[in-house]
Amino acid sequence: MNTESMKASAIGVFDSGYGGLTILNSIRKVMPQYDYVYFGDNARAPYGTRSFDVVYEYTLEAVKKLFSLGCPLIILGCNTASAKALRTIQQTYIASECPDNRVLGVIRPTAEIVGSVTKNGHIGILATEGTIKSESYDIEIHKLMPESVVTGLACPMWVPLVENGEYDKPSADWFVEERINTLLHTDPLIDTIILGCTHYPLLLEKIRKYCPEGIEILTQGQFVADRLADYLLRHPEMESRLTKGGTCSYFTSESPDRFRENASTFLSEEIGEVVRL
Ligand code: DGL
Repeated sequence: MNTESMKASAIGVFDSGYGGLTILNSIRKVMPQYDYVYFGDNARAPYGTRSFDVVYEYTLEAVKKLFSLGCPLIILGCNTASAKALRTIQQTYIASECPDNRVLGVIRPTAEIVGSVTKNGHIGILATEGTIKSESYDIEIHKLMPESVVTGLACPMWVPLVENGEYDKPSADWFVEERINTLLHTDPLIDTIILGCTHYPLLLEKIRKYCPEGIEILTQGQFVADRLADYLLRHPEMESRLTKGGTCSYFTSESPDRFRENASTFLSEEIGEVVRL
């Protein structure tokens, strides 16, 4: 496989690294018929602690690469990229250079669902430092629920725990318990917690262990997949451009062997060829 030989007009899914595979997984379960291209910018991950300008620059480069692979529609399966780069890419690059293509994010679909889950409007957001500092979740949720109380907390150790395969080890417990306690100490009324980072579903078991009963914990994959299915229903002009071969091609900016080895953690299945991009 090489980039020239790809004929598919696929849905592109982008992440700084492996986390977006949790989003890809959910999307493929809902819509297995389409072709997909996944690109992980593993050589430059993590994005979570990087500045606004750098996340924008890296994300725009990734979007251009996925467009050049023939993807007319891209999902930024990365909260940090969705928070810091999506809007500017939509309003500048897409609007002026390729108005028929689309880039969608993961924050809006998650914000849209939380109102149907919370009973008292007290919502906690656990995410990377970049996502929390951007206040994107607060802004999106308040547009839909102006009275809600949104408390965000960055979990800088959680992505490294997942990336290094420590997410199911006892060593991860302290870091998970400490962040959950800090969040619930800040707002003890929180009844719904959004895991606003694509790596965090791998820590779900431990997060549940340290959350009091009755608190809903939301992972994003299913919401993003459902919203994408809805988007394609409402946009037949885009849907008809997508090929339906049921394939998935994987690209990384780092070592393909390393990607193949680590991706199975996120996908619970072996993947075939991976190409360095
Ligand atoms: N995938 C990123 C996100 O969802 C987290 C990893 C990173 O910091 O690059 O925010």
